[in-house]
Amino acid sequence: MDNNFDVIIIGSGPGGYVCAIRCAQLGFKTACVEMRKTLGGVCLNEGCIPSKSLLNSSEIFHKAQEEFNDLGIEVSNIKLNLSKMMNNKKKSVLTLTKGVEFLFKKNKIIHLKGKGSILDRNTVIVTDDSGKKTSYKTKNIVIGTGSTPASLPEIKIDEKIIVSSTGALIFEEIPKKLIVIGGGYIGLELSSVWKRLGSKVTVIEFLDHIIPGMDKDISAEFLKILNKQGIDFKLDSKVTRVSIVKDKAIVDFTNNKSKKRERVECDKVLVAVGRKSNISADISKLGIKIDDQGKIKVNEKFETSIKNIYAIGDVIDKGPMLAHKAEDEGIAVAEIIAGQAGHVNYDVMPAVIYTSPEVAMVGKTEEQLKKEKIRYKVGKFPFIANSRAKVNSETEGFVKIIADEKTDKVLGVSMISAVAGTMIAELALAMEFGASAEDIARTCHAHPTHSEAVKEAAMAVDKRPIHF
Ligand code: NAI
Repeated sequence: MDNNFDVIIIGSGPGGYVCAIRCAQLGFKTACVEMRKTLGGVCLNEGCIPSKSLLNSSEIFHKAQEEFNDLGIEVSNIKLNLSKMMNNKKKSVLTLTKGVEFLFKKNKIIHLKGKGSILDRNTVIVTDDSGKKTSYKTKNIVIGTGSTPASLPEIKIDEKIIVSSTGALIFEEIPKKLIVIGGGYIGLELSSVWKRLGSKVTVIEFLDHIIPGMDKDISAEFLKILNKQGIDFKLDSKVTRVSIVKDKAIVDFTNNKSKKRERVECDKVLVAVGRKSNISADISKLGIKIDDQGKIKVNEKFETSIKNIYAIGDVIDKGPMLAHKAEDEGIAVAEIIAGQAGHVNYDVMPAVIYTSPEVAMVGKTEEQLKKEKIRYKVGKFPFIANSRAKVNSETEGFVKIIADEKTDKVLGVSMISAVAGTMIAELALAMEFGASAEDIARTCHAHPTHSEAVKEAAMAVDKRPIHF
């Protein structure tokens, strides 16, 4: 194999592998360095995909226990086989990682197996499992090395009793009692999984509300829904210590306001307090500029402070840490390298929490608009008034559309719905095209669908919903 490339991408997560495919499509001789045995990064191997598999299986298990009977589906002796459920998850992961391998072959992308490091702006060194180093020359380098779970000072994740999302996706037994530190995306998705499978779950969140960054209306409603599902919350509370005694964990936390101290014993502790970018020593040594959050600084072309070295995804100082953000950046940077006008619109970036019901948003929240002193109007429509949701017994949640007070342009949408994650795409598209609430209100939506609630919320912006 000739060791000269047009582009070498370090990391094969959703940012890296998508970037590699787009580079190959654009005619570049492309290689992607990956140190895991399988391609796809955290998302495919130990993040988005396995968690969605467990969310799906655990939801069906829960429905079989709680809802099937009412639908006239009489099943008796419902039993959980956790190892089978985990095997099904493994199969999904394998299918998808193999899928990326297939796409690499199809696009003639070379997978360089091992740990990549940058020697200079045109040289990447790959160290394989046996320690053998090989040097490759390239015109361009794209860093897409992703992120790893963050922890709290003095809490050491051992992936056995004190786990990150990685460990919480491979429990071999249902923890009787699970404490989750952090009421964000990971904390709430995995709380849902283990609660449905039988754990008693308590979430300890530092702030006085869950899912920071999402609309406060949504956050308050979602908290009520999760409470009703039996998940306990200790809000406004700071975990001060987690110690291990025999095979149990003792969690100490203090209420931020009352200063009341509490101590709970549990079988497992999931630490879900965010993620930190993977910046290896070679990157710092090269002099690539890093911000005070430990993220690589890039310009609007995703160029780092060194020419021809680009960065995308969780390692950069732009946008949220989301797989689809990384994918879009991967495509944009490939096009920029090709001299095209690659671009990512950070103002229209959907975010989804895949619980049941799901939570989704795109654009701005009311709180952000207030801060920015932008005048707006709001239209809300609840699923209790949506026929399809009623038929399916999925009446929790609502759609909230925020539009500019004068121009009626949609500025943000948040929703809680059984299918919010799928529905949010319509709103992202509408916002990309600069739609007004009136444009959505006048768009025919199929009946009966959950999406009619979007049309109704758009009509509610002008105070004329039909069914509420
Ligand atoms: P997160 O940023 O979503 O939530 C972390 C939570 O921990 C916050 O609510 C924060 O206030 C809380 N927290 C921080 N320090 C704390 C402390 N000392 N005690 C108690 N609570 C504390 O981070 P998370 O859930 O770990 O997810 C990491 C990243 O992965 C996020 O950027 C998220 O966007 C991404 N992700 C996305 C998913 C999706 O798209 N569905 C699923 C999973 C992860």
